[in-house]
Amino acid sequence: MSMFKDQINQENLPKHVAVIMDGNGRWAKKIGKARIFGHRNGVKAVRETTEAAAELGIKHLTLYAFSTENWNRPKLEVNALMMLLVDTLKKEIETLNKNNIKLHAIGDLTKLPKKTYKALMDGMENTKNNTRMTLHLALNYSSRWEIIEATKKIAVLAQAGKIDPNNIDEQEYDKHLATAGIPDPELLIRTSGERRLSNYLLYQLAYTELYFTDNYWPEFRKDDFYKALIDFQMRERRFGMTGDQVS
Ligand code: IPE
Ligand code: IPE
Ligand code: MG
Repeated sequence: MSMFKDQINQENLPKHVAVIMDGNGRWAKKIGKARIFGHRNGVKAVRETTEAAAELGIKHLTLYAFSTENWNRPKLEVNALMMLLVDTLKKEIETLNKNNIKLHAIGDLTKLPKKTYKALMDGMENTKNNTRMTLHLALNYSSRWEIIEATKKIAVLAQAGKIDPNNIDEQEYDKHLATAGIPDPELLIRTSGERRLSNYLLYQLAYTELYFTDNYWPEFRKDDFYKALIDFQMRERRFGMTGDQVS
């Protein structure tokens, strides 16, 4: 039993937690290993975080697994990451099904290597009837890509006379985002001490609470997730109002 888990108020859980899994490379370097060793060890943290979120009753968990900018890394690392993804997807599907977790992906997926794309589609297909939680993987994802894509789709509809530009509101815009129908994250966690968003969910994070920890991603465990939630629950979310109004 976890001392931290006991401190979580079940009545005030986020519906959606987003995570920037960062620090795999630095963690590996610290112990004299190659960067890919860090990525491989990050899988355990993914497993723990997914399990912890599902056990608590969180409905959506979105993990930043590969950004559009990550293509600029050395080819060797990119290839290794894509292979690790295929491997992990294949291995973890059984566990996802056992835990009643649905897999979903956001990003420019068609540009992924064929094998990665296929493993992803298979994983989504094989878990589509699960209902406890959805695990969203952001893959070849960037927020600006997503926002521009949404804008293009809306412009096409407007040009075809199917939508009146005067009627474009947040509700309409949301329909065209990769996260359509998913509530905005109430909490964002970033590991490794970096304090930036790196092109992640910029639109959706408008009112999200940000939580930063110095731990590297491969070290991240259930208790670290619980600590982030406890911190989240101590905050007063005001949405532009005064403290008196919301308390
Ligand atoms: C996060 O760890 C994983 C990915 C971006 C794929 P990094 O690989 O960014 O690790 P650092 O930031 O270099 O330590
Ligand atoms: C963000 O991490 C992307 C993922 C976690 C997949 P990076 O390590 O790529 O971010 P920057 O480039 O340091 O901001
Ligand atoms: Mg990094």
